Amino acid sequence: MSSTSIKTVIPAAGLGTRFLPATKAMPKEMLPVVDKPAIQYVVEEAVAAGSDDVLVIVGRNKNALANHFDRVTELEHTLERKGDAEKLAKVMEASNLADIHFVRQGDPLGLGHAVLRARKHVGNETFAVLLGDDLIDSRDVLLSRMIEVSRDRSATVVALMAVEPSQIHLYGCAAVDETDETDVVKVKYLVEKPSAADAPSNLAIIGRYVLKPEIFDVLERTLPGKGGEIQLTDALEALADDESIAGPVLGVVFRGRRYDTGDRLDYLKTGVQFALDRDDLRGDLAAWIKELAAHL
Ligand code: UTP
Repeated sequence: MSSTSIKTVIPAAGLGTRFLPATKAMPKEMLPVVDKPAIQYVVEEAVAAGSDDVLVIVGRNKNALANHFDRVTELEHTLERKGDAEKLAKVMEASNLADIHFVRQGDPLGLGHAVLRARKHVGNETFAVLLGDDLIDSRDVLLSRMIEVSRDRSATVVALMAVEPSQIHLYGCAAVDETDETDVVKVKYLVEKPSAADAPSNLAIIGRYVLKPEIFDVLERTLPGKGGEIQLTDALEALADDESIAGPVLGVVFRGRRYDTGDRLDYLKTGVQFALDRDDLRGDLAAWIKELAAHL
């Protein structure tokens, strides 16, 4: 397997209940961060790591996603006629990014179930799973490192990030052993959303995974867990528990910039942060924030 051939799976079939009513008719992955839907940043990240085949797992609101990555000839022609090359390029960007496929999840029975829907498309290859809840700064390296570690050590790889103990109850948490590489740890076991007192570490699983095809058989056997959903974490725990299934589960510890878009407050912060990183918006936005803060 070469890093250029890895396929990417983006589950986007969740109900997005924390963002209702915005997500009533639109997947949460389509919510804009500044002027791009969150999922476009994720596809860009996959492409930057050498993956140009992307499968999006879609739910009831498939059309918004499919349309976004499709050509919109009417809009393109109008911008062409107006000679607006800059906007035309922006419109065409999403449709030219990668080879994007869609498969329906049917009922949203959990992240593990969504990943299982990728089985036919992925086949017998190692693949990446990227969640739109986490955006990774394009200036930092994560996915390509995970792919490299997976290949070198024939391992399943999860992305881990140190969080404040008070935050660990929001994540899957990994009990780990060190390895000979400073950014790689061996996952001994996983605990879903532990209290700070029960957490075996402060390392949280964030939404990037490089999975081996053996995960599909494990997911087939995985019973509904927390929230009555088929959990990807439970399947990963089964792999960590029995290395004879698919080799070790390793974690790449990410120390770069990650932006959370999973709930409303973090989503708002992400939008502000991304805008402050943009030359066309930083100055005016920063001035307004200072003004606003002075009156809070
Ligand atoms: P979340 O639990 O964060 O997504 O799932 P959600 O259920 O849509 O959000 P809330 O809590 O109701 O607001 C993590 C990821 O897994 C996908 C989601 O789209 C999200 O990217 N997912 C989850 C699926 O594709 N299918 C599912 O059945 C569940």
